[in-house]
Amino acid sequence: MDEVVTHEHDVVVIGAGGAGLRAAIEASAAGVSVAMICKSMLGKAHTVMAEGGAAAALANNDPRDSWQTHFRDTMKGGMYLGDWRMAQIHAQQAPDRIRELEQWGAVFDRTPKGMTSQRNFGGHTYPRLAHIGDATGLEMIRTLQQRGIHMGMDVFMEFTVRRLFKADGRISGCFAYDRNDGSLHVFKAKSIVLATGGITRCWEVCSGSWEYTGEGHALAYWAGAEMGDMEFVQFHPTGMIWPPSVKGILVTEGVRGEGGVLRNSEGRRFMFDYIPERYADEFADTEEEALAWVDEVISGELTTHRRPPELLTRDVVAKAINSEGDAGRASEHGGVYLDISWRDPEQVMRKLPGMHHQFKELAAVDITEQPMEVGPTAHYVMGGVRVDPYSQETSIPGLYAAGEVATGMHGANRLGGNSLTDLIVFGRIAGEQAAEAANDMDHFAGIAQSEIGDVVAETLTPLQREGGENPAQVVGDLREMMQHKAGIIRSGNLLLEAIDDLHSLEERADATSPGGGRTYNPGWHQALELSAMIDVSRMCALAAHRREESRGAHTRADFPETDDSHWGRVTSVISIGEDGSMDIGYASYPAIPEELRTLLDTDDPHEED
Ligand code: FUM
Repeated sequence: MDEVVTHEHDVVVIGAGGAGLRAAIEASAAGVSVAMICKSMLGKAHTVMAEGGAAAALANNDPRDSWQTHFRDTMKGGMYLGDWRMAQIHAQQAPDRIRELEQWGAVFDRTPKGMTSQRNFGGHTYPRLAHIGDATGLEMIRTLQQRGIHMGMDVFMEFTVRRLFKADGRISGCFAYDRNDGSLHVFKAKSIVLATGGITRCWEVCSGSWEYTGEGHALAYWAGAEMGDMEFVQFHPTGMIWPPSVKGILVTEGVRGEGGVLRNSEGRRFMFDYIPERYADEFADTEEEALAWVDEVISGELTTHRRPPELLTRDVVAKAINSEGDAGRASEHGGVYLDISWRDPEQVMRKLPGMHHQFKELAAVDITEQPMEVGPTAHYVMGGVRVDPYSQETSIPGLYAAGEVATGMHGANRLGGNSLTDLIVFGRIAGEQAAEAANDMDHFAGIAQSEIGDVVAETLTPLQREGGENPAQVVGDLREMMQHKAGIIRSGNLLLEAIDDLHSLEERADATSPGGGRTYNPGWHQALELSAMIDVSRMCALAAHRREESRGAHTRADFPETDDSHWGRVTSVISIGEDGSMDIGYASYPAIPEELRTLLDTDDPHEED
């Protein structure tokens, strides 16, 4: 067998974004040995692409805010499908995690009184997003990394993990290869924290960075973990759409939070036409009222008016933009116009410097003078590995998951800004729990040589194939297919076609030949990534086909209604069957306790009749 280097760490953290770094910091602080394995360079995780802010009820810009309102907004935004226990933990702990980041050196924007400034975002009742201009994720990673590297953890950069190992049903380690030199590595571990982020590179138009090919989701599934809610993929309403080379790049919701308005090709502010009944009391239905709200925000007064409809939840705004296009009212390149140029240019430059730079450099548009052209872009997966809400342990003992790779908190649609605080709230818990479990174990479990041999062979096989397609071609076809058949608006027929197409894409993937050797070979990496991309796409298409209703980010043209009597009570659960097939079932979260239920605008959707 090819040479395999063996490492031993109490806790292995896979992923070095916000959740991975926060978990690694907590585990290291508990005194265990920690390895952090990341697919790209340290400091270049997808988290750095998060722009608008981190949601926490600090109540700095509006004293009326509270964790209870944050909890209510999160549950409502997720169409009540989320795990209320995670939404509660998140809303209660997010403020402390933000304050902690400040103590560790994060330089947040300030209010005139010197407190952490908070901006408005979709679905949040009050200004709640702590931010650093429009580069919040970057500052968060800088801060966590600075803290983390002084804690003595071993970092393995540009390594891809290919397999999780178990012994007697408990996690025992993982296998990875070095993307630079192709060397092969086994990591023995007492606990593993998965913090690998999302899957949105499976769609043609997406805001995800190149790492987002779903390996974390697939690793957990292949190891036998339960996956939940994989049908729910969020399309952020505003990605760049022109020029084609930058299509999908995020245009932060912060633009709308700072007063940006959406208009169609006729110049109409169309979001007034799309306010759902459940939000009618909260959102302005006239331009005058929306402007009155903005005036109050700008002058720093407490808001007394209803919010502008551009700040509805992302599922609503993305579908509205889609509908405007279908009705023939799209902008020149097929999206809509987002305009912040009516605001004082100095304010725009101060609050949205990244957006100004991005549009100037990439689209030759000066956003202080001209509108941007924007359209929906695949941004986030609400589905992922099912976890215990209090420990973040998955259905596999010793395997923990945190951040986007885990599911539960966001239900059918995530509120903007809830992701960054999700990372640090649940990353901390996962790291603490993983370390505690490792501390309770006195030895490392063995890993069978035959299992190592299998994964080594599987990893090297693409290099031995000749005459097959280039893996990039299959990746491109997969992304195009998912965009058209499992996108914003779905139908039973198209989803069935997607499931069929995935069979043929899998056959093609198994025959690709990247050529070249093990050193610096991106074709080889892509050939390997395909197995994860295909399985996560299949999970999404299968769960989407089964869910015969429309809810949050999942819209079925053939089932346009929301069905609270059945679908609102159940989340999909996918797992690998004995024969390797993909099984799907359903589960419900426990009933919501009375004191929390009274915070909601609805009866308990989880309670059985
Ligand atoms: O629009 C944004 O800045 C994205 C934030 C998020 O997804 O939380």
